[in-house]
Amino acid sequence: MGFGLTTTAYMFKATCELGGEWVVEGVVPYGDLSLSPSSAVLNYGQGVFEGMKAFRTSEGELLVFRPDENAKRCEEGAGRMSMPAVPRDLFRDAVLRTVSANAEYVPPVGMGSLYLRPLLIGTGAILGLGPAPSYTFLVYCSPVASYFKGGQLTPIDLTVEETYHRAAPGGSGSTKCIGNYSPVLKVQLEAKKRGFSDVMYLDAKENKYIEEVSSCNFFCVKGKTISTPSLQGTILPGITRKSICELAAARGFTVEERNVSIDEVMNADECFCTGTAVVVAPVGSVEYKGKTVKFCDGKVGPTSQAMYDELTGIQQGKLPDERGWNVKV
Ligand code: COI
Repeated sequence: MGFGLTTTAYMFKATCELGGEWVVEGVVPYGDLSLSPSSAVLNYGQGVFEGMKAFRTSEGELLVFRPDENAKRCEEGAGRMSMPAVPRDLFRDAVLRTVSANAEYVPPVGMGSLYLRPLLIGTGAILGLGPAPSYTFLVYCSPVASYFKGGQLTPIDLTVEETYHRAAPGGSGSTKCIGNYSPVLKVQLEAKKRGFSDVMYLDAKENKYIEEVSSCNFFCVKGKTISTPSLQGTILPGITRKSICELAAARGFTVEERNVSIDEVMNADECFCTGTAVVVAPVGSVEYKGKTVKFCDGKVGPTSQAMYDELTGIQQGKLPDERGWNVKV
């Protein structure tokens, strides 16, 4: 099992008229939506999504990782996209009810997780450019395992993109809006044809500092310092990113959130990517301007391994959850 869609029995649904209250339909059978051709999401991309995971522990409990962080990010995204926010309690309840209704699809411990996809979209019909008159909030899910080919912790090979940018200052790069993701496909597909796993983006102003990879945040390690691009509005404020910063600091690393130049990356001891979908993905190599640097002989680096083990250990209930990140279903 990789990261393909396996549909499950149920999804959660709520709707809202612009200026009104959310009306909860609750857990409903998973199925197609009926949309007007003039719905705002189809015409103007008015929508945000989240990515989250639920895990089964060896005792058979079901745990959801940091749902309140996703609720908060979804609320901020709704504001940026002029949509009514989903109240945080409703968001959390929706996620827990979706997991509970689809409990049989949560893989056994160590075999993967149930990926949850909360989706807030402008479904009402509109022709002129403006906020949709009505909105739908859904949570659907799919059992998943490794995002990248080769399995979890198989080092990935990245190429640095110099022509296209993912986001620019003042844009929507820090919002998990649906329109941020299709523009990366052209570059990603070209890179895959050339044998790379994915693409690293540089900043749009100087073409010098790392932003993120198409679907995940980026970290590099030099000695006992771990550096990651700071949140300046152009990259996604990843919840795995935030968790890794905390875990690394607690292990005695100096964690720096700042501009990370591509030259620095080419001289790093080790690099890895983080995200809900990718978890902690070690970087085997980076190609930039025709030069390729291999990290840790193309094997999993010790910091990537340690961060992966600690994060997944907490998520799967194997290690103590000292920070109260897991929510029991
Ligand atoms: C996630 O990591 O949850 C994401 O939303 C990335 C997505 C492109 C698969």
